[in-house]
Amino acid sequence: MLNFSFQNPTRIHFGEGQIAAISQEIPSDARVLLVYGGGSIKSNGVYQQVISALNEHTFFEFSGIEPNPSYNTLMKASEIIKAERIDYILAVGGGSVVDGAKFIAAAALYEDGNDPWDILAKQQAVKKALPIGAVLTLPATGSESNGNSVVTRDGNKLAFSSPLVRPLFAVLDPKVTLSLSDRQISNGVVDAFVHTIEQYLTYSVNGKVQDRFSEGLLQTLIEEGPKALSADTKDDLDIRSNIMWSATMALNGLIGAGVPQDWSTHMIGHELTGAFGIDHARTLSIVLPAVMKVRKAQKREKLLQYATRVWQITEGDEDARIDQAIRLTEEFFEKMQVPTRLSDVELGSKDIDLLIERLEQHGMTALGENSDISLQTSREILTLAV
Ligand code: NZQ
Ligand code: ZN
Repeated sequence: MLNFSFQNPTRIHFGEGQIAAISQEIPSDARVLLVYGGGSIKSNGVYQQVISALNEHTFFEFSGIEPNPSYNTLMKASEIIKAERIDYILAVGGGSVVDGAKFIAAAALYEDGNDPWDILAKQQAVKKALPIGAVLTLPATGSESNGNSVVTRDGNKLAFSSPLVRPLFAVLDPKVTLSLSDRQISNGVVDAFVHTIEQYLTYSVNGKVQDRFSEGLLQTLIEEGPKALSADTKDDLDIRSNIMWSATMALNGLIGAGVPQDWSTHMIGHELTGAFGIDHARTLSIVLPAVMKVRKAQKREKLLQYATRVWQITEGDEDARIDQAIRLTEEFFEKMQVPTRLSDVELGSKDIDLLIERLEQHGMTALGENSDISLQTSREILTLAV
């Protein structure tokens, strides 16, 4: 196992009715900015629950954070933060709203005169940020209890990370996920699945705890994901609970502590979203199968473990077992109704040059657990994904 330091201070309030807990979590004298997205929270009752819980607090609102939140939208929050002397951010929404809140919280206290975009473009360290709380409405990203944020500006989708923007608390009420569309349910399950894979499918360092946690998360998502799409079981709260907790656990730092990680699928996927607007999770379901195929030799030992422990494949020689595990991964994605090829989203070979150019611009030239996924390897991956 590799050395690591691990701390996750986000307090989780899990379960039905837990939105009420925010009244205790946010200091009573705070000046709160409630930030949210395009309005789903107004039609599913979440907004009303939040407002009731904030009954005794002073709060203001900032809405309109879009999926794949944009720098231009987020910067508009700085006016209200200054004018109303905001000192606490409450994010209510999916990963985009929580990520957006993190950027807003860091931008609010960024050095005067400097453009907060430098936090992403130049990876300038965040030195101060407003405190953040989150009410999660879409299980997927893990953003509710990690320090990561992804922001887009002019087609450049970039990430930053800081413990200072990790939410102090997060409410996870599975009931609020009942209003999600099938597309968003699928996206969430697939995103969490790929987060787990990217911290698992590398090379072995004999991290038994991390491996078995990861295998448990993968099996849970494989079992429960399709049920959340099926008419008979879609409103089952146990299923939603298991999906929601899996998504949080997949990217709260626990399974990734002390093991190598390979975020190449995400980095290539971000370019697909930045250039063509493909949903985050749908970029991952397109890229991951090709990564597994192109990196078969480097990931051989873990692919065999994945085949045996996650898919219970025990027959056939090693190559056949690996191929079957990759095929079953693709079939799982198909069951989750997400694309597995560039051609499924009307893209093809002609689009690969632009994606490679963008990867180069963004410094994504040595990806993977061994930093050996060059631009040439990314090209091979994308070519195989056509
Ligand atoms: O904006 P509203 O009206 O709220 O609608 C949203 C949005 O249109 C809707 N939605 C959310 N909760 C709902 C709901 N609709 C009905 N009922 C509910 N309960 O869903 C749509 C998509 O929301 P979004 O927040 O964009 O989805 P997601 O949670 O998948 O977040 C994706 C973003 O997170 C980033 C992605 O790159 C992308 O920008 N990621 C963040 C990570 C992190 N912070 O650690 C890691 C991830 O890998 C990912 O990169
Ligand atoms: Zn993701």
